[in-house]
Amino acid sequence: MADWTELERRCAQCKRCSLCDSRTNVVFGTGLRSAEVMFVGEGPGENEDLQGEPFVGRGGQLLDSMLSLIDLDRKRNFYITNIVKCRPPQNRDPLNTEQDACFPYLEEQISLIRPRIIVCLGRVAAMRLIKPDFKITQEHGQWFRRGDAYITAIYHPAALLRDPTKRPETFADLRAIRAKIREVCESTYR
Ligand code: URA
Ligand code: SF4
Repeated sequence: MADWTELERRCAQCKRCSLCDSRTNVVFGTGLRSAEVMFVGEGPGENEDLQGEPFVGRGGQLLDSMLSLIDLDRKRNFYITNIVKCRPPQNRDPLNTEQDACFPYLEEQISLIRPRIIVCLGRVAAMRLIKPDFKITQEHGQWFRRGDAYITAIYHPAALLRDPTKRPETFADLRAIRAKIREVCESTYR
């Protein structure tokens, strides 16, 4: 199995799909590499592409402030990355072919981290990591198993920016995530 340095180097040079042509930076992922909790989004947007870090735009700021309410901090107790590591042009959804090309990197990250809990941010990640017919409006907040991990999905922060009426449901999901962390994680809240 790869180690982090080698994996990150391969990713930084990757030309497995055509998103490599338009990227500024590969957005590999950030946070605690020994985390018990992992968040997975869809793909980098403009700010992420420019800065090389996931979820640093307006959506990312909303996410960080919501996660701070349940004592989660990317510097301290979780890891965050995306299904595809390079920005899709005009922020379109990543194509299935692009997701297929990039997914092995995420699988290696999951193998290295071995999280107890995975939280999908939005439909695209949930369809990849939970099940292909995942319905975010009906199934957000529900728990599934993925290997040794518990896995759930919440609305994507961009959806919460577009439609603030979804926020109360997301706060309820976050409280459930906090409860699950207390139940199955040892170091996250210590
Ligand atoms: N949206 C995502 O899905 N991921 C990011 O990193 C930023 C915005
Ligand atoms: Fe490689 Fe993934 Fe970037 Fe495509 S999106 S070039 S597979 S790192």
